[in-house]
Amino acid sequence: MLQTHPGQAFVGREREVQAVQAALEAAARGQGGLLFITGEAGIGKTRLAREAQRLALERGFRWLAGRYDKDGGITLQPYVEAVRLLLESGGAEKLPELAGPYAPELARAFPDLAAVLGPAVLAQQLALQDPQTARQRTLDAICHLFLGIARHSDASGLALFLDDLHWAPSMEVLHALARRASGAPLLLLATYRDPDLHETPALSQAVLAMNRERIFQALPLRGLTREEAATLLEAALGQPPSASLVEALHALTGGNPFFLEEMARYLLERDALAQTNGSLALKEGTALELPRSIRAVVEERLGRLSEEARRALAVASVIGEEFSLALVCEVTGLSGDALADAVDGSSAAFLIAPLVGGVTTCWWGRPWRGCTHRAWRTTPMP
Ligand SMILES: Nc1ncnc2c1ncn2[C@@H]1O[C@H](COP(=O)(O)OP(=O)(O)OP(=O)(O)O)[C@@H](O)[C@H]1O
Ligand SMILES: [Mg+2]
Repeated sequence: MLQTHPGQAFVGREREVQAVQAALEAAARGQGGLLFITGEAGIGKTRLAREAQRLALERGFRWLAGRYDKDGGITLQPYVEAVRLLLESGGAEKLPELAGPYAPELARAFPDLAAVLGPAVLAQQLALQDPQTARQRTLDAICHLFLGIARHSDASGLALFLDDLHWAPSMEVLHALARRASGAPLLLLATYRDPDLHETPALSQAVLAMNRERIFQALPLRGLTREEAATLLEAALGQPPSASLVEALHALTGGNPFFLEEMARYLLERDALAQTNGSLALKEGTALELPRSIRAVVEERLGRLSEEARRALAVASVIGEEFSLALVCEVTGLSGDALADAVDGSSAAFLIAPLVGGVTTCWWGRPWRGCTHRAWRTTPMP
């Protein structure tokens, strides 16, 4: 049986890679900052960060990284992991000097550091402080540590990567670091799923606040183009796919690389592909079905929508790949406001998207004509 080869090639994303390069150059000159890589699940945020890691190491940066877990909910989790990486990569000897006056706070925030900074530090009584002052002091200590690593390591600077911020309980530490990065060789890279982040008001408000301060640059990722999808599929399948297979899978997945890889694997596992004229095509009479892995993602998104939104989507999916809101409104009988909410929720969940260049339907003053994401149209409503 044919085998898949996922994750080997890095495809497309030229603009984003250029932005990372430029941010690394600026950070190396002492003008660091924060780059947010955003987009739906499986769109390639972590993969782009892996590419950023390669570029950062090539450019002589130190790379530290950590991530939030779905059920973790610990504010300092990725920073603890980053400190652990630092210790593992032999960065321990300079730490007492780097910690300076903040050694007691750092030893408490990062248990791994306690051993390096010495037991005397832990025994040291912290001055009596009210909780607000103590929190601020801990934030200052963490910023002091990472800025110190950025400025005083032998590397060109520090690239600190924080993955899956949509599961963070708070963005306080990142916000504080981002404010100070502009004057240091520190590049902060962070990813989040925007539909998930917007479910948590505290996190989306933190992003809004950071936006008002203009302290980050966003790299929103969208689906791969058809040509890029063809390259990814060829890498995943180990053989070139036919133009019609690329066309069908690109339309079905919206160019989401995770979906594309899953489809490639599923089709190979089900022995649904055959070689014709030097490329792989669907065997005659084979219908394109979604594997469970993709259904699960789409079902989760549908499950989070309001009842009205699901009703509107069900109608839109029957109308077809393209629909006008006027018709959805007529069939569902939903009010303009309810439909507006349904559209907002469904677009945020990447289940529908406005048609670019299509016929515009004016509806409650907003020009809109939608297209449904094919993957969900073949997923039954939960
Ligand atoms: N540009 C790309 N070139 C090749 N493969 C890619 C690209 N982007 C993503 N992939 C592949 O697609 C899959 C999903 O990518 P990735 O894990 O980066 O998604 P993600 O956006 O981080 O998803 P999540 O929100 O679930 O963490 C991975 O197997 C990855 O290797
Ligand atoms: Mg990821």
